[in-house]
Amino acid sequence: MNFIRLLHQNKSFILLLFFIYILFWLTISTCKQVTNVHEIHQSNRLNYRSNSTFYFILNYLFQLKINIILIDPHVLNDVFNYQLSFDKLEQQLITFAITNETVKILFESLLLQDINFSIKTSKTILHNGKTFINHIFIKYETKIVHLAVLHKYNSYYRIYRNHLQLSENIQLSYGDKIRAIDYFETELYEYLFHYPRNISHFLWLYKTSEFLYCNRTLADKMENKFHLYQNFTQLNMIIQSMRHIAHGLDKLEKHYWLAGGTLLGWYRHCGLIPFTNDADFGLYAEEYDESIRNYFLGNSITHIWAALGLVNDSLEFRLSSGNYVFDLFWAYRDGNHRWYGYQAQRSKFRRIIPLLDKLCSCDVFGYRFSIPCSPITYFNSEYGKDKWEMPLEKNYTSANMKYHSMWNDISWMYAVRLYTREGKLRSDELAISWVSKRFNYSYLSVPSFLNVLPNETVTLRPLKFELTNTSSIKNTSLQYKPRLTTRKRR
Ligand SMILES: *[C@@H]1O[C@H](CO)[C@@H](O)[C@H](O)[C@H]1NC(C)=O
Ligand SMILES: *[C@@H]1O[C@H](CO)[C@@H](O)[C@H](O)[C@H]1NC(C)=O
Ligand SMILES: *[C@@H]1O[C@H](CO)[C@@H](O)[C@H](O)[C@H]1NC(C)=O
Ligand SMILES: *[C@@H]1O[C@H](CO)[C@@H](O)[C@H](O)[C@H]1NC(C)=O
Ligand SMILES: *[C@@H]1O[C@H](CO)[C@@H](O)[C@H](O)[C@H]1NC(C)=O
Ligand SMILES: *[C@@H]1O[C@H](CO)[C@@H](O)[C@H](O)[C@H]1NC(C)=O
Ligand SMILES: *[C@@H]1O[C@H](CO)[C@@H](O)[C@H](O)[C@H]1NC(C)=O
Ligand SMILES: *[C@@H]1O[C@H](CO)[C@@H](O)[C@H](O)[C@H]1NC(C)=O
Ligand SMILES: *[C@@H]1O[C@H](CO)[C@@H](O)[C@H](O)[C@H]1NC(C)=O
Ligand SMILES: *[C@@H]1O[C@H](CO)[C@@H](O)[C@H](O)[C@H]1NC(C)=O
Ligand SMILES: *[C@@H]1O[C@H](CO)[C@@H](O)[C@H](O)[C@H]1NC(C)=O
Ligand SMILES: *[C@@H]1O[C@H](CO)[C@@H](O)[C@H](O)[C@H]1NC(C)=O
Repeated sequence: MNFIRLLHQNKSFILLLFFIYILFWLTISTCKQVTNVHEIHQSNRLNYRSNSTFYFILNYLFQLKINIILIDPHVLNDVFNYQLSFDKLEQQLITFAITNETVKILFESLLLQDINFSIKTSKTILHNGKTFINHIFIKYETKIVHLAVLHKYNSYYRIYRNHLQLSENIQLSYGDKIRAIDYFETELYEYLFHYPRNISHFLWLYKTSEFLYCNRTLADKMENKFHLYQNFTQLNMIIQSMRHIAHGLDKLEKHYWLAGGTLLGWYRHCGLIPFTNDADFGLYAEEYDESIRNYFLGNSITHIWAALGLVNDSLEFRLSSGNYVFDLFWAYRDGNHRWYGYQAQRSKFRRIIPLLDKLCSCDVFGYRFSIPCSPITYFNSEYGKDKWEMPLEKNYTSANMKYHSMWNDISWMYAVRLYTREGKLRSDELAISWVSKRFNYSYLSVPSFLNVLPNETVTLRPLKFELTNTSSIKNTSLQYKPRLTTRKRR
């Protein structure tokens, strides 16, 4: 009763509501039509543009909802850096990536294909006898779409070698070697394929993507003969910090490589040398800039606590994660080799290493790290030929670590920088004692001029204005013997 009365009383209001309802639906359906028109337009546009064979294949894969990612370095360069139209590409083959989850879907869909694609695959047999598809070649007319299968690890994708015989004029950019590519973000291109969002960075990483295996035979020997086992609980903690350092350097596009005992641990133990509590990284001195120091100053995961040496001489950073220390050594080019500096008290030591003009990739517990492409040459020069295959030389002193010279008074002040966890220059007693213990002068406070702007070249100022000459020559430095390598060789 009440309800009917209500209806009568509000007739006009209900009519209005009804009217709004109709209007609402009209709007919705018009919108829908517009979208449809847009879609039709979109596919027309594709058909119109798809007179190239590549477009034809790619469009077909896209219709099958197969996600592929353009990773071909030449094509990425031509299309995105040189703005070359896709139709104008002269390549016979273009390489895309496909995840190995998608491979199955692809083959199920292609079975139903009504088009005369020629499809060939390359397979790999793992040591456990399992086989899987690594490369797919879809040929139509004269063009080949090459799909390289991505195998996922913790921080990177691995692409295995291609075993299919291809015509001689084809040079693969993936499948030629085993390669490792860090995870990357993608964008969609013209409703056809995805591509790396940051192309220049992707191309930069490609250059060091060649993948090297550790030596499983030696690693097994370390366990079976020497009973040196990997402690995953402990190593996992080191790896996270190592990963953070490597990732930071990659982001800044500064090349690095695992160095010294860390590199040896990867090769000889397929992990890290057990009981290790530090990790070493080498870097090209010519790539140094202050963005690296800025990245690590006050870094919440691994902060820099000491910068020793000068940018142009024996620079090394010592980082800490709280539990472990990490050393970054810059390698200076000198003729046909390089050297790293190492400061012990006031002395400079040097280690000679090969030129390392090419870097590769390796896996440590599922994470990608850069390494020298010829690790054996590196070990032979770092530890002496054939001296590195056996562990546990307790009193090992590096044949490679050579005394070079002493920091002179002025440079010495600049060569020592200690930082707080927050990234501030330390001026406390410890900072003073690091310098003053080995100093000819009394050094009572850290002068403010040492706190140079990170990006400025250091101008070494005369000492007399700032310091008192105490004439107390402390001649202890030369007696120092480096214990660096002993510590690492466990
Ligand atoms: C493809 O299209 C371009 C212009 O869009 C035209 O010049 C060319 O002749 C076409 N090629 C073929 C094979 O149809
Ligand atoms: C992906 O490849 C790995 C081998 O690297 C294999 O073990 C795994 O089963 C594959 N996954 C799928 C979904 O095919
Ligand atoms: C498919 O390709 C084969 C060989 O490449 C050829 O003999 C055949 O005529 C083609 N069929 C069609 C429908 O194009
Ligand atoms: C592993 O190291 C041993 C000893 O140096 C060497 O004989 C062997 O060739 C190495 N294996 C590989 C696969 O490089
Ligand atoms: C592995 O390392 C963890 C953490 O340092 C330690 O607690 C544990 O005892 C170690 N295990 C072995 C077998 O050494
Ligand atoms: C690409 O990556 C580099 C290195 O990390 C970075 O410097 C650059 O800003 C990035 N470019 C874009 C467009 O994000
Ligand atoms: C190794 O060092 C220990 C003490 O550090 C010493 O007793 C021993 O003689 C040394 N061995 C050799 C071969 O130098
Ligand atoms: C200390 O200064 C004297 C000159 O006053 C110099 O000969 C000597 O080399 C200096 N000592 C060091 C360790 O540099
Ligand atoms: C150094 O930093 C200052 C201030 O941050 C800036 O004005 C200057 O351009 C920088 N110089 C160089 C060479 O990058
Ligand atoms: C390094 O630079 C300083 C000035 O910043 C200069 O005095 C010194 O001679 C340079 N050292 C080398 C080895 O070039
Ligand atoms: C320091 O003082 C001693 C003696 O007072 C003097 O011989 C020496 O030249 C002084 N050195 C400098 C660098 O001033
Ligand atoms: C430093 O000590 C060494 C021996 O430990 C000695 O041969 C040298 O002459 C000393 N140098 C100076 C400047 O006193």
